[in-house]
Amino acid sequence: MSGRYKELEYWDSRYEEEERLLTGGHEWFGAYQDFAHLVRRELRPGTRGLVLGCGTSSLSAELHKEGLRPLVSIDYSTACIKEMAQRNVNVPDMSWMVMDAQHLEFPDGTFDLVIEKGTLDAMMVDERDPWRVTQDTVTLVDQVLSEVSRVLAPSGCFISITFSPPHFRSRHYAQLRYDWSVSCDSYGRDFHYFLYTMRKGGQLTSLDLERGHSLYRSHVDLEHAPILLDCDDEDFLNNIQI
Ligand SMILES: C[S@@+](CC[C@H](N)C(=O)[O-])C[C@H]1O[C@@H](n2cnc3c(N)ncnc32)[C@H](O)[C@@H]1O
Repeated sequence: MSGRYKELEYWDSRYEEEERLLTGGHEWFGAYQDFAHLVRRELRPGTRGLVLGCGTSSLSAELHKEGLRPLVSIDYSTACIKEMAQRNVNVPDMSWMVMDAQHLEFPDGTFDLVIEKGTLDAMMVDERDPWRVTQDTVTLVDQVLSEVSRVLAPSGCFISITFSPPHFRSRHYAQLRYDWSVSCDSYGRDFHYFLYTMRKGGQLTSLDLERGHSLYRSHVDLEHAPILLDCDDEDFLNNIQI
């Protein structure tokens, strides 16, 4: 597995290349229609939305069609935001901002729905052992989740779409400090992906709490962790399952 997916320089040059070759974007974890039924149940008239690490995915456009207004999409890659802003220049109530998901520049309680697809996975790509995540990654993910919790309005929800199953991923989400409940659905036919829904103000179950505690019980023993090989395969996320 390559750590390139964690680096801003990688994403900038990838999006610049896509624009130069007019190849369009890569859609991570399937098309919107594959999981639209799971997102729609969270939509109300006037839902204010934020997409984290939007890339060149069609997700923002699909959510805008669903009626999310306003809809803000952020990514830390300037190349991708420039491209997406150009493509959607005349679309009302849709904005594109270069921003790091670890430091969201919005006041508390700004959004009813925050959604990410593959962004946290890209941040965790360096991990060698999904059972024992390094302190650096725990801190990085916590920084993003704390920011998401802060910008969510009461009863708002955070949707996270990933390849990572509950025994690896739920423990990151199941922390009392975020003040939300955690639930998980899966979608896909041959391949299954996971869509986590965190509702602000909701309660964690005892299983969630146990999983949440396990994040801090695990320790990292890098010497004995398996080393995954470098690969350029777009399916790199399939290998990590964090
Ligand atoms: C695997 S891609 C997913 C793109 C898009 N969400 C999709 O579904 O196709 C990960 C995206 O997260 C962005 N990203 C990674 N770390 C980020 C950070 N700290 N802040 C904002 N965006 C980030 C990358 O630039 C890239 O566009």
